[in-house]
Amino acid sequence: MAKSKFIAQFFTRGNKVGSMAPSSRFLAKKMLQHIPFDKVKVLVELGPGTGAFTPFLLDRMNANATLILIELNDVFYHELVNKIKDPRAIIVHGSATDLPEILKKLNLEKVDCVLSSLPLAIFTPQLAERVLHASKDALNDGGLYIQFQYSMQSKKKIFRQFGNLKLAFTPLNFPPAFVYTCTK
Ligand SMILES: C[S@@+](CC[C@H](N)C(=O)[O-])C[C@H]1O[C@@H](n2cnc3c(N)ncnc32)[C@H](O)[C@@H]1O
Repeated sequence: MAKSKFIAQFFTRGNKVGSMAPSSRFLAKKMLQHIPFDKVKVLVELGPGTGAFTPFLLDRMNANATLILIELNDVFYHELVNKIKDPRAIIVHGSATDLPEILKKLNLEKVDCVLSSLPLAIFTPQLAERVLHASKDALNDGGLYIQFQYSMQSKKKIFRQFGNLKLAFTPLNFPPAFVYTCTK
């Protein structure tokens, strides 16, 4: 179901969806590998899509931790609402660029981890910078920004924002993906 929805959304709104298929569990493993789940209280997922990473996050999060999912696409948003029934998850239909306002509305000042699946490489440079800046600003010192991409095109942009970056790669995804992990 998630796969057919993805293909349909890619062909109708490809420039915003950025992929033809949901990510694999192998990519999920790479995305989560550096998260200190025992310490993390608030996590944000930008562009969760149909929730390829979400159950893995919820499985490992503490009972009192919170996961904020911010998804722009209305079809994916409704799929998430139908699928994710965990009380620790807050599902927001909106844009990653609204992160400061979303946190303010939820009475949250800072977060411990931002996990982003946003297609930065097809965003305008201004939009990509805005999302990266808002994410860094939202993080606690020592917090993690984790981003996957299908190319190295956005590596410099991400490095410039955080001043550090760990790179991982998995061929076991369609398309194969690079994972960037940065510490604030
Ligand atoms: C490459 S898909 C990844 C989806 C899912 N995380 C996965 O890995 O299968 C990118 C996702 O980002 C969402 N997206 C694009 N621009 C966005 C924005 N400005 N704010 C929030 N979500 C956005 C798309 O709708 C899509 O669900």
